[in-house]
Amino acid sequence: MTTRVLYLIACAAGPTQYIDDGVRAAQSSGWDVCLVLTPSAAHWWQERLTELSALTGHAVRSQYKRPGEGDSLPKADAMLVAPLSCTSLNKWGAGIADTLALGLVSEGVNMGLPVVAMPYFNQAQARQPAVARSVTDLRSQGVIYLDGAYGYRSHRPKHGDPKAFPWGKAMSAINTHSRQGIPPL
Ligand SMILES: Cc1cc2nc3c(=O)[nH]c(=O)nc-3n(C[C@H](O)[C@H](O)[C@H](O)COP(=O)(O)O)c2cc1C
Repeated sequence: MTTRVLYLIACAAGPTQYIDDGVRAAQSSGWDVCLVLTPSAAHWWQERLTELSALTGHAVRSQYKRPGEGDSLPKADAMLVAPLSCTSLNKWGAGIADTLALGLVSEGVNMGLPVVAMPYFNQAQARQPAVARSVTDLRSQGVIYLDGAYGYRSHRPKHGDPKAFPWGKAMSAINTHSRQGIPPL
């Protein structure tokens, strides 16, 4: 049996400082993990990107390729966006794919791939009216958005604990959802 490929897509939100924890959690579930960072998240890791490539065994991508350039990653079987920042959530909900990260997931879910997203932002950010609209729009496309008891509950401003991001919940959702066998386009 071939190992299934998971694109782990991380934004510039607190837990991305420890994105290696997320990679290891997915690898422990048997996934071949390809890591995609937003440009802001890649900036956080810029001195240590080679560590992440060594951990995954793949290039860490954060930029769209140029026209005519070949794919450097294997095809994805599923995508997990975690942590999803408030900014990327709202861009994604509005159909703006100005980063590779958002381009992959906005197309991926509409090609029938299992796409799970777990946010990480505070209650003040969560109160913006755009957040509820974006979550509704993503769910209407089939994105499994993990909030409340099933995912991440927003923290009080200045009271986040990014190291304690619940990777286990994200992994059980992607494992369950990807087993449901939605045929890709
Ligand atoms: C140190 C630092 C921590 C941040 N933490 C968060 C966070 O936990 N959640 C969030 O939504 N935004 C956070 N931000 C703001 C985002 O990085 C910012 O909105 C950025 O534009 C997100 O871009 P991206 O979604 O393309 O990665 C943080 C910014 C900085 C500088």
